[in-house]
Amino acid sequence: MNYRHAFHAGNHADVLKHLVLVNLLEAMARKDSPYFVLDTHAGRGHYLLASPESRKTSEAAEGVLKLFGQPPLHESIERYLRAVQSHNPVGALVAYPGSPLLVAQHLREQDRLAACELQPEETQALRELFARDARVAVHGRDGYSAIKALLPPRIGDTKFGRGLVLIDPPYEAQDAEYPQIITAVREGLTRWPNATWAVWYPIKQRRTLLPFFRKAAALPARSIWLAELQVRPDDSPLRLAGSGMLMINAPWQLEQAIAPALPVLQRLLGETGATTRLEWLKQPD
Ligand SMILES: C[S@@+](CC[C@H](N)C(=O)[O-])C[C@H]1O[C@@H](n2cnc3c(N)ncnc32)[C@H](O)[C@@H]1O
Repeated sequence: MNYRHAFHAGNHADVLKHLVLVNLLEAMARKDSPYFVLDTHAGRGHYLLASPESRKTSEAAEGVLKLFGQPPLHESIERYLRAVQSHNPVGALVAYPGSPLLVAQHLREQDRLAACELQPEETQALRELFARDARVAVHGRDGYSAIKALLPPRIGDTKFGRGLVLIDPPYEAQDAEYPQIITAVREGLTRWPNATWAVWYPIKQRRTLLPFFRKAAALPARSIWLAELQVRPDDSPLRLAGSGMLMINAPWQLEQAIAPALPVLQRLLGETGATTRLEWLKQPD
């Protein structure tokens, strides 16, 4: 397990993933009933853009940093930027929040987050980050096994009828990851059918993803769509051309908040040949 998210924090893939995440969390907060979030691959939760890892790749400079200082952008992008800015009270962007921190900042008193992370140093950082937040439980364990162990969520007397599972693995063993995701989501849907599932995936050569999409489309879910941002043509199996979010049972009309943001991200973050896509794999009845 070599992957460290510090090298990639705030890059174009984080922008897409976290923009969808923040808009999803705001949609979930429109109902009073409590929600539960399982972040299966949480990372360390907080990244400094001046760290040696971040400076080595400069990926944030080609990602989130390009969005700051622009004239006002689409509301769904502004929501995401406000969430990131709130971790930078002095102004300039020096800190970047990871997914568990973005979730935690949206939780209300009645909501809960379980964040799983397998790498011991990252887990320790996560535990320190949330040491004083009783709404957040950090698990140093495999995120896929947590789907079986923690769902359907029940804490004390509270049963959580709704919520989110975010699956954001490092795809170090690509071929193995996709079937594992499909198996985990299929199992999870039977355990917790009303949850939303959000799966991040990398795009190197998009056509190689088609079997994954075919299997995802056959999952027993009410609705499935995907949102993608490719910042460059997918002409190399080695280089990250972009990424996507596979959204299963997403809140009603979330896709309408995301769709107008995609061409803006393409214009601001993309090179020649950049593309975006919002596509239904299964429409709700
Ligand atoms: C892409 S990063 C997560 C980034 C984070 N979700 C965010 O958006 O800020 C993937 C993380 O998963 C961790 N990881 C790898 N395999 C795992 C597993 N089986 N279960 C839980 N965490 C795992 C890695 O150590 C890494 O920190």
